[in-house]
Amino acid sequence: MVVRVVLLGTAAGGGFPQWNCACALCAAARDGKLPSRTRECAAVTGNGRDWWLLNASPDLRAQLTAAPALRPGPGLRDTPLRGVLLTDAEADHVTGLAELRGAAGLKVYAAPPVRAVLGPARAALGRYAPWEWADSLADGGFVLAGGLVVTAHPVGTKIPRYVPAQLPGPAGPWVTAYRVEDLASGGVLVYAPCVGAWSPALDELCAEADCVLLDGTFFDADERDTAVRPGAGQAAMGHLPVTGPGGSLAELARHRDARRIYTHLNNTNPLLDPASPARAHLAGSGAEILPDGAELLL
Ligand code: MLT
Ligand code: MN
Ligand code: ZN
Repeated sequence: MVVRVVLLGTAAGGGFPQWNCACALCAAARDGKLPSRTRECAAVTGNGRDWWLLNASPDLRAQLTAAPALRPGPGLRDTPLRGVLLTDAEADHVTGLAELRGAAGLKVYAAPPVRAVLGPARAALGRYAPWEWADSLADGGFVLAGGLVVTAHPVGTKIPRYVPAQLPGPAGPWVTAYRVEDLASGGVLVYAPCVGAWSPALDELCAEADCVLLDGTFFDADERDTAVRPGAGQAAMGHLPVTGPGGSLAELARHRDARRIYTHLNNTNPLLDPASPARAHLAGSGAEILPDGAELLL
């Protein structure tokens, strides 16, 4: 078997179009001139039968309904969904857990600060059905049903804005990437939809990957979401931009053996328009933007 990945959603927290944004890109999406995108989330399997979500977006219900591979059955409440791997605690990556409430026997992996801040939500979800919560950073990683071996790796320090400033809790990374390897085929996926800064560790992960799904929130460092968050540029937002000094595209250029795909696209990002100079620049470097629902085999 091979690693099979479905890109369930590819937009950042606002979706595309964002409900309250009148920018030219969002208007074009509303007019059907650019493809709309749901909030970032993916699904992965090593055997085609046991599927694992990579993050849980608020659009999860529609995303699962649109994915034939994740169709329930054959029993009335059977589903191929076995659990969820969270990269962080951002609202757009965790609120989809509520859509799964009552699902039998799910296992959720997350780093200690993420599990801690989700404490009240975990308790609430546990009243619908008992789920197992595990430390994604446990020594040696973990093995998923379907033959996938996974390790988590710190890639950022971004704390969600809903978290009170003085929250006591376990130390540790708020943002991680996952390396997912199929034991049978040796295929390796690196999943990093939220990256604060490039690091030697992330570089090493990319060097070994067949496919990298990377944070494409912002195209450049000056891109600002002025309408919604005055003054909040990419640095303050905890997302390494694609271009500019230290941008991720230049780092990825060392890893041309891997398929390099940007996801978690913010509604301000010119890469949303296939006819943009930004998109031509990206294509020239061999990196890709894919639509919601795209499937990868590695
Ligand atoms: C992010 O990725 O920066 C967050 O999801 C922003 C948000 O709160 O929507
Ligand atoms: Mn986000
Ligand atoms: Zn917009």
